[in-house]
Amino acid sequence: MAAAGRCAGSGQSVARSVAVFCLSDFEKYARTQLNGNAWGYYSSGADQELTLKDNEEAFRRYRLRPRMLKDVSKVDVKTRILGQDVSFPVCVGATAMQRMAHTDGEIATCRAARKMETCMMLSSWSTTSLEEVAGASGESGLRWFQLYIYRDRDLTRNLVLRAERSGYKAIVVTVDAPVVAKRLADARNRFSLPPHLHLANFDTQLPQSSLTSDSALEGSSLERYTRDLLDASLTWEGIDWIRGLTGLPVLVKGILTAEDAVEAVRHGVQGIIVSNHGGRQLDGVLATIDALSEVVKAVEGQVEVYMDGGVRQGTDVLKALAMGARAVFIGRPVLWGLAYNGQEGVERVLQILRDEFKTAMMLSGCRNLAEIQPSLVVHQSKI
Ligand SMILES: Cc1cc2nc3c(=O)[nH]c(=O)nc-3n(C[C@H](O)[C@H](O)[C@H](O)COP(=O)(O)O)c2cc1C
Repeated sequence: MAAAGRCAGSGQSVARSVAVFCLSDFEKYARTQLNGNAWGYYSSGADQELTLKDNEEAFRRYRLRPRMLKDVSKVDVKTRILGQDVSFPVCVGATAMQRMAHTDGEIATCRAARKMETCMMLSSWSTTSLEEVAGASGESGLRWFQLYIYRDRDLTRNLVLRAERSGYKAIVVTVDAPVVAKRLADARNRFSLPPHLHLANFDTQLPQSSLTSDSALEGSSLERYTRDLLDASLTWEGIDWIRGLTGLPVLVKGILTAEDAVEAVRHGVQGIIVSNHGGRQLDGVLATIDALSEVVKAVEGQVEVYMDGGVRQGTDVLKALAMGARAVFIGRPVLWGLAYNGQEGVERVLQILRDEFKTAMMLSGCRNLAEIQPSLVVHQSKI
């Protein structure tokens, strides 16, 4: 497949014959297409980006112990997440402001997720409203809504109720962002949302001017926006409050320790996403694949555990599942897919991961997800 999308930086149509075979091919292409503001925002991590790099590198420290002669002529990659079918265990994670990558933004992403029969998690900070995304993905598109808790509790409540009314099947509360970390690329670029875009879930209620460009101000506009509006006083009682507002399952995203996993279960969440926000928050935390096992062990099967961060190939998915993840989410690769060719680009990203995962299962002697066991993986320190 060749890229023929709209160039996000210039708004021009481009038709290039750039072939893509793996997820890093999309990243290379996206880098040539996105302007500095968008590329910097999407690709960067916090501070020295130690965790950003480690998320990918950590996967390489786990090696596979495949079994042979298992009749893998038929392999089933389907699974269920919170009781809903997905055609393979890779879902689309929440990434903000997708219309900087392609004019169709979140609409393209939700259609791609529906076509590939997987789940899309929509960011609170989408550049298309949650209702429009629901309309475009339709009844059959499985959607979860990612929630940031604002100081303004009425506004937060309203988001939850709107998501529930619009057919989202879970509320995912992000707990690792009481404030946005220092992201050097955004500070240097004085990151701002392009003037033709806005955070579409907040049409009337929020002062958005702080997010668009004001050349008189230093640093990233997002840092200012979150400092002004997000609730840094949030505690586990906030999770109880959200659970009281909605009949939907509530998950927490951003857990990295057994202690917090136990606390999450105690507060009645139905799922945990092991995540470090793609290395964009506290720099120097564990890579998510390294944190996964302790969380899985701590919850003792009481709730589903997912992970995101650094998943870039089928063997990464296999390793995460062997270590107890129910499914994984991908963040940046979806943005690169959008930049490559909108909906088709995102579909292609998901297809490549699905096909690589299926091949990795066959080569490991696994015919279905239940056969992916912890014994499939060994950490290099134990070899
Ligand atoms: C550009 C960008 C925007 C993001 N926006 C959000 C967001 O709005 N809410 C959220 O909970 N996480 C957000 N994340 C974090 C992702 O949900 C996810 O944890 C992370 O991207 C996974 O790592 P990966 O990019 O290596 O796949 C964002 C990540 C990126 C790269």
